[in-house]
Amino acid sequence: MGKKFNDTFLKACRKEEVPHVPVWYMRQAGRYQPEYRAIREKYSFFEINENPEVCAEVTRLPVEQLGVDAAILFADIMTPLKPIGVHVDIVEGIGPVIDNPISSLQDIGKLKDLKPEEDVPYILDTIKLLRNQLDVPLIGFSGAPFTLASYLIEGGPSKGYHKTKGFMYSKPKEWQALMDKLAEVTVSYLQAQIHSGAQAVQVFDSWVGALSAEDYKEYIAPTMTRIFKTLKENTNVPSIYFGSGSSHLLEEWNKLPADVLSIDWRISLDKVRALGIDKPLQGNLDPSLLLAPFELLKERAKKVIDQGISRPGYIFNLGHGIFPSASVDTLKKLTDFVHDYTSKN
Ligand code: CP3
Repeated sequence: MGKKFNDTFLKACRKEEVPHVPVWYMRQAGRYQPEYRAIREKYSFFEINENPEVCAEVTRLPVEQLGVDAAILFADIMTPLKPIGVHVDIVEGIGPVIDNPISSLQDIGKLKDLKPEEDVPYILDTIKLLRNQLDVPLIGFSGAPFTLASYLIEGGPSKGYHKTKGFMYSKPKEWQALMDKLAEVTVSYLQAQIHSGAQAVQVFDSWVGALSAEDYKEYIAPTMTRIFKTLKENTNVPSIYFGSGSSHLLEEWNKLPADVLSIDWRISLDKVRALGIDKPLQGNLDPSLLLAPFELLKERAKKVIDQGISRPGYIFNLGHGIFPSASVDTLKKLTDFVHDYTSKN
């Protein structure tokens, strides 16, 4: 606190010149941190989420510990679904598990509209608190309809997403009703976060890579276009779109009115640029390299950065989230390395 506001991340989202490449990490608050584990001894996941003081503390942890250039609200993609009638629990080592999965139009009709001020006041209060505490931008986030639907239909995590895709192919009316519902929830949740002070938003479509480009175009792109377009019309913060295993979808993503694309590690940033993609990019070091000898990690990070900075608008991140066995010390050294290597003075 009291430090000069560091807006490098926001500048990179707008393709403006930056004093160094900004860094943050997906899942930068979590079980790899001893302090987080200690807080989790006392509170369940959703208890943290619903207590603004604690939630703000957890959100700030990686900023203070690693020196990253942005904070991301501590919550889960399932957070806004709980108050609209989804019985979700976060189960240790598994992720979100739902005991009333969706299989019919009637199930979809039972989902309520999200009224953020009434349904998730603690999230908006956490954001307001954080804006007074942080000297870096705060990223708000939500899940994207396909990824949320995969949990709602499968009842939990999945490998092949066969049930979800089967539903999508065989019940087009129900599928569209579900996409429309989840798009509405996403937009109202993100707009409320932005009105409360979120300075950028990331939409996590983690599992959409399960679809072919053809299916993405037919079943998903219209919904994602509507989400990003509505955000653009009503707010003026940068929007970021992320999915893992989805390099085959990048040409479709490039047509969306999203501002920044967050790239997973399976494709090089040079190849992404070669596809004709000119949006700012975020990514994309393989998170497994956090377990490699530091020299190798550094060499690979350097490669990613060299490709990333070949055009204006680049944010360093991992290609997916930090995992529990990663070390705080390695992440701190990596953050310092990115800053030193790209520093203009
Ligand atoms: O990035 C951050 O620091 C903010 C917090 C955040 C969490 N989940 C906290 C969390 C964010 C941005 C998410 C997003 C999220 N949640 C995604 C999209 C990002 C991605 O990784 O693809 C997805 C798919 C989920 C669903 C989910 N929730 C999963 C797969 C898991 C992990 C399961 C496991 O145990 O490994 C969760 C649980 C979860 N969400 C934890 C945290 C810190 C860990 C569980 C805990 O503390 O009990």
